[in-house]
Amino acid sequence: MALFGSSTQAVPEIAAVPRHIAIIMDGNGRWAKKRLLPRVAGHKRGLDAARNIVTACRQMGVEYLTLFAFSTENWRRPQDEVSFLMELFLRALESEVERLLENNIRLHVVGNRARFAPQLNERIAVAEAKTAANDGLVLTIAADYGGRWDVLQAANALLAEGATRIEEADLATRLSMAYAPEPDLFIRTGGEQRISNFLIWQLAYSELYFTDALWPDFDAKALDEAIASYRDRERRFGRTSEQLPEAQRRG
Ligand code: IPE
Ligand code: IPE
Ligand code: MG
Repeated sequence: MALFGSSTQAVPEIAAVPRHIAIIMDGNGRWAKKRLLPRVAGHKRGLDAARNIVTACRQMGVEYLTLFAFSTENWRRPQDEVSFLMELFLRALESEVERLLENNIRLHVVGNRARFAPQLNERIAVAEAKTAANDGLVLTIAADYGGRWDVLQAANALLAEGATRIEEADLATRLSMAYAPEPDLFIRTGGEQRISNFLIWQLAYSELYFTDALWPDFDAKALDEAIASYRDRERRFGRTSEQLPEAQRRG
């Protein structure tokens, strides 16, 4: 079922706990370098951090958590690092499914994936199917994902359907994450302040939070700080402060 709640078409409901958090998990390589370890050691620890953040979001009642694991541009990395990341993803799909089932977490994987090994795509399909009936947290892993790829595949789907004119809802409902509301809170660890071709369409009105913490060091406390910052924001969606309900005004 496609869900269409657009921040540009209507002002969304604001909850104290963000409904949807999207994270660029950055800084694994630098975390490892600081310890004189190979970059891939940082990726391993990054998986541990991701597991902890999934648990924390589940406990907090976040409805959707989206983690950027591998971008369409990350194929440009050295072949051995790319292979390691693919292997880590494959093994994580196998080892984490039980935990997802125990915690009522539904898994989605979004991205192009044409260059993934057939075995990896099979594992993804199995993990998605096994968790399909879960209705707690919806966990999305963006892998071989690019925001431009997503917008283009949606536009191409519309062309294939014979569209000659595109409305916002037509495109939004064909994006690969049409099942989720737009992110309320975007977090990027690792100190860079950029979007790196993540959810370029859906981040239109998300609150952006950047932290210098490297991803393997990002824990439940760091997540709490990000959410505290989010709660301090005045989400105006184009309106003036005076137009907001009292409870949503800040400062
Ligand atoms: C993020 O960490 C993980 C992936 C992109 C797969 P990086 O590997 O980008 O770590 P830094 O930015 O080099 O420290
Ligand atoms: C963004 O991180 C992608 C992921 C975290 C998967 P990068 O480390 O690849 O981003 P850039 O290259 O610094 O923009
Ligand atoms: Mg990086």
